[in-house]
Amino acid sequence: MSSTSEWAASEAARRRTFAVISHPDAGKSTLTEALALHAHAITEAGAVHGKAGRRGVASDWMEMEKTRGISVTSAVLQFAHRGCVLNLLDTPGHADFSEDTYRVLAAVDCAVMLIDAAKGLEEQTRKLFDVCRHRGIPVITFVNKWDRPGREALELLDEIEREFRLKPTPVAWPVGDAGYLRGLIDVRRPGQMLRYARTPGGAREAIEEPVSADRAALEDGADWGKAVEELDLLQIDGAVHDQEAFLACRTTPVFFGAAISNIGVRLLLDAIVDLAPPPGPREVEGGGVRPVDAPFSGLVFKVQANMDPAHRDRIAFMRVCSGIFERGMTVTQAASGKPFATKYAHSVFGQDRSMVDIAYPGDVVGLVNATALRVGDTLYAGQSTVFPPMPTFAPEHFAVARPVDLSRSKQFRRGIAQLDEEGVVQVLVSDLRGDQAPVLAAVGPMQFDVVSARMAGEFSSPVKLETLPYRLARATDTAGAEALNRSRIVQGEALTRIRDKAQLALFPDGWQAGSFEREFPTARLDHLIAAHE
Ligand code: G4P
Repeated sequence: MSSTSEWAASEAARRRTFAVISHPDAGKSTLTEALALHAHAITEAGAVHGKAGRRGVASDWMEMEKTRGISVTSAVLQFAHRGCVLNLLDTPGHADFSEDTYRVLAAVDCAVMLIDAAKGLEEQTRKLFDVCRHRGIPVITFVNKWDRPGREALELLDEIEREFRLKPTPVAWPVGDAGYLRGLIDVRRPGQMLRYARTPGGAREAIEEPVSADRAALEDGADWGKAVEELDLLQIDGAVHDQEAFLACRTTPVFFGAAISNIGVRLLLDAIVDLAPPPGPREVEGGGVRPVDAPFSGLVFKVQANMDPAHRDRIAFMRVCSGIFERGMTVTQAASGKPFATKYAHSVFGQDRSMVDIAYPGDVVGLVNATALRVGDTLYAGQSTVFPPMPTFAPEHFAVARPVDLSRSKQFRRGIAQLDEEGVVQVLVSDLRGDQAPVLAAVGPMQFDVVSARMAGEFSSPVKLETLPYRLARATDTAGAEALNRSRIVQGEALTRIRDKAQLALFPDGWQAGSFEREFPTARLDHLIAAHE
């Protein structure tokens, strides 16, 4: 083994690359800030996460973001904790869903599922969890807002187990019901309770005081007794952390706390270091894996244009999968077989960037003005390698796009083609509709807003969008597509997705898809990967 590969392996071993998945308002921004506060932020993000108006918000690269107060971009926050380097990839925090969110999950090794103590599992948590399961990403659960009245702890665990078929294994257990938090029991250190002195506004780390079991029994009698009893019950039920089962996505370690007061955040951070897996070997096309100590390889999981309105640039976010990335090295783009120069490699935090000189497996590098790069691209040095394509999720929203000003149809076509390449939306065409009226397909309607804003602002070709009444897409073949477009009974339409030339059959609902199957029993009609099953 060369010293470079040993170096890559040892750096990989101390990396943890993860995302926080949650429903809006569960506290993702608050938790992110709290994690960065507890850990030592390697690069001052300054201002990445959070909502408009809140301290530290800078990801306002689009006018739309400012007006809506939402973050459409995904930033990467890097910080150190106990000798490890943590990369926290932000998933877009808006209520609508987009493919971006899924792509970010292709670049992480673990997810923290954040749940609001009063609300339990919510719609977006469910969708994101489905993606984690689909990708085999282990999930750590953090039940947030325990400082406010909410549901019973055991009831929340039941809900996770029932709905996600995932056994919750508590690691930090609350003493006191939601809204009456007395402290936390670190299950690995029984016989004591951690009591927290809150700091005003959560501005500093919460002060943790270990309290002995005797003192807890004396001072917090009923609550302490209940917590100990609950933990005993859970133990009998086998709700005990097992690393192998966690990595196999059969169990989820559970933490309770209040991100706003930094309660329980240190325990979560320790768990990310102790339990979350480091980057491992990655499957490659054609079978086999690329180990982390192989020569450099990276996966482009997101391309984002116009992050800096002053520069009109485009950044390809690449996760290092193996080896060592050094700025300036020339690598190969697997899709084209062409060399790719990496002079402009940055770490990107909202609008702030700094040059990256070196990066290791698990790290994320922003390649500026990498116009040749597409989502899903593999870059490598040494032995050629290609990572499997990014899954394209089944679109559920469809709209025809037309230029408002017909004299700008060239800009219109160029803009739509560019947004398609970046993966902002899926673009579908058919002979019937022609290329002046492509159909845009999205996982979440928010993607259409991004198209409208960028077509007007960046390509000077405002678009009219006409929503189509379809909600379901299936993969078909040429014969199926022809049959559907001929059918007088079935409500639906077949189009070709430009990105991969797939033939998609669109229907308003499952009932129409069913009647198509009955009318043409031999036609191919396959399920696409559902964004949520
Ligand atoms: P998000 O990114 O998941 O959308 O959630 P965010 O962190 O913005 O938090 C949503 C709301 O929940 C915020 O209140 C935030 O202060 C609150 N919150 C987050 N964590 C906790 C917690 O542990 N306990 C309690 N009680 N509240 C929490 P807001 O009123 O919407 O915004 P703000 O005015 O407080 O910023």
